[in-house]
Amino acid sequence: MSDHELRVSKIRNGTVLDHLSGGSALNVLALLGIDGSEGTGVSVAMNVPSDRLGTKDVVKVEGRELSQDEVDVLSLIAPRASVNIIREYEVIEKKRVERPESVQGVVVCPNSNCITNAGEPVRSRFAVLNDGVRCEYCDEIVREGIAEHLRAE
Ligand code: CTP
Ligand code: ZN
Repeated sequence: MSDHELRVSKIRNGTVLDHLSGGSALNVLALLGIDGSEGTGVSVAMNVPSDRLGTKDVVKVEGRELSQDEVDVLSLIAPRASVNIIREYEVIEKKRVERPESVQGVVVCPNSNCITNAGEPVRSRFAVLNDGVRCEYCDEIVREGIAEHLRAE
């Protein structure tokens, strides 16, 4: 996108998540546990034109460099995202989203009898499958609609 088409400003320091599928930005924020209460800048552009994707979403998180573990959690709903780490306005690193073996604390088990829903101090843990995730405590599988089972930590 050329500069005269920029929807949201460049950021000085932080992380830009680009090439998110159109309409997925709010789920991406939920997945990362970002709800604005941090008090730092968060810009969201939804359904902007993209040569590659038709339309895409972009999320810019100021003052925070996402770790590789945080980036890998994105594989659940945004496996093709580009992750750009910005310092002093420059892209200093592009991270690739890799599928982790498991994710902890981000998916809520839909099984109400699961130990992770019993009010015990047990952190959820899901194995990542090719087509979904499986609770490591009760074996419940979530394939569709993972976005509806996200907990912001
Ligand atoms: N960006 C930003 N603030 C900066 C630098 C870059 O918000 N200070 C954003 C750009 O607007 C772009 C993304 O970070 O959305 C990646 O920047 P860059 O690598 O310069 O763009 P492209 O080459 O178009 O990226 P790609 O290779 O992913 O297509
Ligand atoms: Zn469970």
